[in-house]
Amino acid sequence: MTIPPTVRSLFAPAPGLAYLDAATYGLPPKPTVEALDRALRRWQDGTADWVTEWDREGEACRALFAELIGAATAEIALIPTVSAGVGVIAASLPTGMEVVVPEGEFTSVLYPLLVAEQARGVRVREASFATLHEAIGPGTGLVAFSLTQSQSGRTAPLAAICEAARRHGARVLVDATHAIPFVPVAAQLPAIDFLVCHGYKHLLCPRGVSFFYVRRDHWDDLPPFLANWRIADPLYGNSYGGPLLHRADASRFDVSLAWHAWVGARPSLELLAQWQREGVLASVLDLSARLAAGLGLEAPTSSIVCLSVPDAEAAETALAEAGVKCAARGGNVRLSPHVYNTPEEIDRAVDAISSLAVL
Ligand SMILES: Cc1ncc(COP(=O)(O)O)c(C=O)c1O
Repeated sequence: MTIPPTVRSLFAPAPGLAYLDAATYGLPPKPTVEALDRALRRWQDGTADWVTEWDREGEACRALFAELIGAATAEIALIPTVSAGVGVIAASLPTGMEVVVPEGEFTSVLYPLLVAEQARGVRVREASFATLHEAIGPGTGLVAFSLTQSQSGRTAPLAAICEAARRHGARVLVDATHAIPFVPVAAQLPAIDFLVCHGYKHLLCPRGVSFFYVRRDHWDDLPPFLANWRIADPLYGNSYGGPLLHRADASRFDVSLAWHAWVGARPSLELLAQWQREGVLASVLDLSARLAAGLGLEAPTSSIVCLSVPDAEAAETALAEAGVKCAARGGNVRLSPHVYNTPEEIDRAVDAISSLAVL
């Protein structure tokens, strides 16, 4: 299936620009920009009802993200950044627990665990990303990793990691920011204890919209350290005074919402869920495969294609001048297509990269 032109018409990249940088930030569809614009105007003139127009949008987003990953809505918490989820887990880890992470892990995952190492005597051990499953042993309490690496686009061996963790009784914490909605997790979800995902990249949401999957058997053993008025039971039911009466499901891990970001997130997630149902998202992986083949690379394991070059920053600048927007990460030129890209843009990017003097 090719991406229908009606999908592309929902976006407005600058004329002539091949925007291949969803891994830095995804472009919002027009309904998202319109929803944000409407919310800002109703904020400006003071007519908005914050509950029904802004705060409740988070509840719609919770259900849509659950659909995207194949979880129950009750297992999803609304958080502003991935470290808000990782930090809650890090704060709960007991002294002496071994945590296995890949070398070069993204700091919003790694740093909270290093803080737990300093503050609580957790032992963080680094291992190879490609063979992370082999590093999980009888002493491992948690394995934490980006499912798809932001600096390489490589995808971790999720099934093998989950199997090794199950064998040794370790918990699994996945950062799926660069994986969802292109790398499926549904089949492994029962074996994943926790999953965090920021929405401003491949989910085409405003920044500040992140999700925290907490498998239901952990609702009671993970203390909700970021507790706030929005987790009161019932929702909006208590803003003053104790006792602590929080909701029963994973919404106890919600952080009160940066409203307008969630207003914008809803139309983006609605479209993504629709495109997932219709099979449109799979076509983005075809674009990535076309890109990789054109550059003489192996087939990618995510939507992200990375090419190692001697000077990635110079390459990024030269490509920007040629109308191809990508990013320099970890010595790579990183290209990340989405539904707004066309095969012609992919071919243009291949031509532009092939003619780079810095290669
Ligand atoms: C793997 C990964 N996770 C998460 C994020 C976003 O981090 P945060 O939510 O702390 O802004 C990024 C941003 O580049 C990332 O590469």
